[in-house]
Amino acid sequence: MTIDNRIIGAGIFSVILLLASCAGTTDPHSNKGTLALAYKDYFPIGAAVNSSTIDSHAELITGEFSSITAENEMKPSLAYPRYNQPSFFASDEIADFARENSLIMRGHCFIWHQQTPGWFFASMGGIADRETLLGRVNDYMTLMVERYGDVVYAWDVVNEAVSDEGPEILRDSPYLEIIGEDYIAEAFRMARAADPEARLFYNDYNVLDPKKQDRIYSLLESLLAEGVPVDGIGFQGHWNVNYPDGNTLVKAIDRFAALGLEVQITELDISAYEWNDRGFSWGSGAPPEKLLEKQALRYAEIFEALRSRSDIVSGVTFWGVADDGTWLDDFPVSNRKNWPLLFNESHEPKPAYDAVMNFQ
Ligand code: G3I
Repeated sequence: MTIDNRIIGAGIFSVILLLASCAGTTDPHSNKGTLALAYKDYFPIGAAVNSSTIDSHAELITGEFSSITAENEMKPSLAYPRYNQPSFFASDEIADFARENSLIMRGHCFIWHQQTPGWFFASMGGIADRETLLGRVNDYMTLMVERYGDVVYAWDVVNEAVSDEGPEILRDSPYLEIIGEDYIAEAFRMARAADPEARLFYNDYNVLDPKKQDRIYSLLESLLAEGVPVDGIGFQGHWNVNYPDGNTLVKAIDRFAALGLEVQITELDISAYEWNDRGFSWGSGAPPEKLLEKQALRYAEIFEALRSRSDIVSGVTFWGVADDGTWLDDFPVSNRKNWPLLFNESHEPKPAYDAVMNFQ
């Protein structure tokens, strides 16, 4: 399936939703707008899902979203845990869920220093050499594209390769040590050969941090100058109720667009806590109204910025579906409840949902 067909698939889904709402059917979402429908002229709206939430949150996912990302199940640690023994059960379930519900998928993620099984980097009695590791990466990409290329329209080819602190641009990783600095270029070339039609992304966090942004920009600028097939940058979007402001976001989008890249927000959530705010907790009961209102204002500002750049922004994906399933409950502080998404723990829309929808 070509990217256009994949996106048309989601378009058909939106039309079905529209027709259902006009016809007044018994569809549970027929009486309200949905995120996907509201944003159909802007960009697909996605959610990260997992083996559990495709059951427990199925109604929300299919009712509100037009795109999904497997939160973990397509990463090599889960999809290719042992030498020559891929394990597709969980990733198949999620891809089938997408196919059955006419959702498009982002594929996440081929190359990451985390969630990669040790055997990728090992060889009998020692460390794998460059050619061996490149061969394994190529096998994994090829297997994934053969199996999911019909439904995945965009791959996160390389995730989080840039260091948080300078002066080195690239963070230490087994890929860097074994393959060398060209591992990113090689990864994109292999991904393009495996899936000539998919959109290929470099994905990272803290893209709005000025110093890290400069390093990411230099990396992408030099890759593009060498003719490496990078189509876009994913801003993960793990932000918080105080950050970022819309202007900072727009400037960053424009900066990467000037390189010829499309931009996606790939892992959006708005934490109740600032990153360094480790000692404080709002508790585990219901979140305070003032917090939910503050979060709604942040979401409103971010989506206003994204809508203003919908010619560049080609997708926005939340890192989860509802507040009863978020990685932020355990990070960076374990067992501290967070409420970063648009739907509450009972799967009802929060003030943030209204803020994102309130532009029509
Ligand atoms: O699969 C094992 C399971 O066998 C075991 O019983 C269980 C016990 O803890 O752990 C399971 O592994 C967990 C894995 O998710 C799959 O559920 C890991 O402990 C857990 O650490 C891992 O967390 C994921 C994290 O990436 C890994 O760093 C989160 O769910 C996932 O949301 C998160 O996603 C990342 C993006 O891929 C990249 N950007 C940052 C984002 C947040 O960290």
